[in-house]
Amino acid sequence: MVMDRVNKNTRGKISQLRLHARDRRPLYEQLAHAIAELIRDGELAEGTRLPALREIAKLHGVALVTASQAYEVLAAEGLVSSRTGRGTFVSFKDQAAVQPALPPALGRRHRPLLQSDDGAGREWTQPYKVFSPQSRRYETFELLRASARPGAMALSAGHTAPETYPLADFAECFARTFLDDPPAIHQYRVDRGDVTLREACAERLRARGADVTADDILIVSGAQQALSLVTDCFVREGDVVAAEAPTYFSALETFDQRHVSWVSVSVDRDGISVDSFVNAAAKFSPRVLYVNSAAQNPTGSFLARSRHRQVLAAAERVNMTIVEDQTCWQLSYDGEPPPPLFASDRSGRVVLIESFSKMLFPSLRVGFIAAKGAAMNALYAAKLRADSFTTTVSQRALVRFLQSKAPARHLRAARSLYRRRRDALAESLARTLTPDVRMTVPAGGLNMWIELPAQWSARELLTHAAAAGLLFLPGSPFYPTQPATNTLRLSYGALPESQAPEAAARFGRALRSYAATQRKKSTLTASDPAITPAV
Ligand SMILES: Cc1ncc(COP(=O)(O)O)c(C=O)c1O
Repeated sequence: MVMDRVNKNTRGKISQLRLHARDRRPLYEQLAHAIAELIRDGELAEGTRLPALREIAKLHGVALVTASQAYEVLAAEGLVSSRTGRGTFVSFKDQAAVQPALPPALGRRHRPLLQSDDGAGREWTQPYKVFSPQSRRYETFELLRASARPGAMALSAGHTAPETYPLADFAECFARTFLDDPPAIHQYRVDRGDVTLREACAERLRARGADVTADDILIVSGAQQALSLVTDCFVREGDVVAAEAPTYFSALETFDQRHVSWVSVSVDRDGISVDSFVNAAAKFSPRVLYVNSAAQNPTGSFLARSRHRQVLAAAERVNMTIVEDQTCWQLSYDGEPPPPLFASDRSGRVVLIESFSKMLFPSLRVGFIAAKGAAMNALYAAKLRADSFTTTVSQRALVRFLQSKAPARHLRAARSLYRRRRDALAESLARTLTPDVRMTVPAGGLNMWIELPAQWSARELLTHAAAAGLLFLPGSPFYPTQPATNTLRLSYGALPESQAPEAAARFGRALRSYAATQRKKSTLTASDPAITPAV
């Protein structure tokens, strides 16, 4: 078959590729990326036969094993496939040549906005538009904005403390990146991220018990982008998605874009509740579980290792993908954090998300996804569509930082600071809160979760708190379904210990002032038969 012979043109293109000794990437990776570019640029069309390993090795003066590793990378990225006894062929279809296909459910539920024809009788449609549902945080954030007063203590944002950011170290790492790395690193790139960084991320996970290599790592522009990519790859319009109640609201909003049907699963001090999840899985067969398994935002819990087996088994029964968010895992204050669920997974159904935003600083915009096989290939393709690649400058500076002695020192200092801040706020609150207000002292993270008496409203309390000079985040946006309106989050990451007593005192004043209005309301209700309590 003509297609099966390596044609001269292909050989010519591949022989012109140049590998550079100054390029810090291994030769196999350089070779793989150079060939990947030819494929993506359409220079090597689908079906083209690539030269045999021996020939590649000879053309570029590299070892046979280097050529073989390069082909493995290309295969893992879905760009080539091997046919036994026949060779290696390009298997990538140029997406520009393919009509964008809407998932069937999208086509069914949402008619194109506009239909017409182009005058020649051919029908055309305006591009499909995703209607964003009303953002779940919108009302709460508007209320916060309206409540803000000068001098208010803002415990409403789950921020880290800027004074912990290792900026002097990074100034050096960024400078060295600009001065010492070859100019070629600033070129467009087609890969899953800097290979040394991916190796460092894989090593972090291996140290936590995961069976993972650099090939299973995709560098992304923060965990928030990771959430968009997993939604893009694993969630279709109208799917059923399970999540803890409460959980990180930005993740919920990302999945909301697919108009998903939510299933709530409860969470306690040891993370997602097994019984609740097993029931939800059996009853609703969700396509995806989003689980924030380390220093959970907002409750601060860590998923106990003893729960891994049952959670994975329940997911397996209904063939569910698990999106595990480990963004804050390093912020654990009462001992080492448990290993991620990803480390116990043997079926490749867990996709893990991590970020350097909390351990270092958010403006770095570097995080990663760990996933296996087809899931990784789909995520990589989604990343290319989203923003091509994560800024190389941040990646290279981060590699330098991770290779220095600074991370351990920095992490020790940051953990100790946040632990002291947590303790200071918890102790001050303990002196202020009445027994009907429940506080969960978190095992990690940056937030304290508070439950008010059942009939109270955190949004109403916010007005009293703002008047007392304190802002917090009402809990409603954290619930996939049926918000518990009597909950709220107090964030202490950016609150110096010395200010904790004052913050607790202001919160106490707000509680007392709100309680007084509640008492007045209930006396009115009791004395006025015309006012019936809502059921
Ligand atoms: C649980 C969780 N996931 C993801 C993110 C987003 O992090 P990033 O800055 O890496 O986008 C955050 C940020 O607060 C978070 O708390």
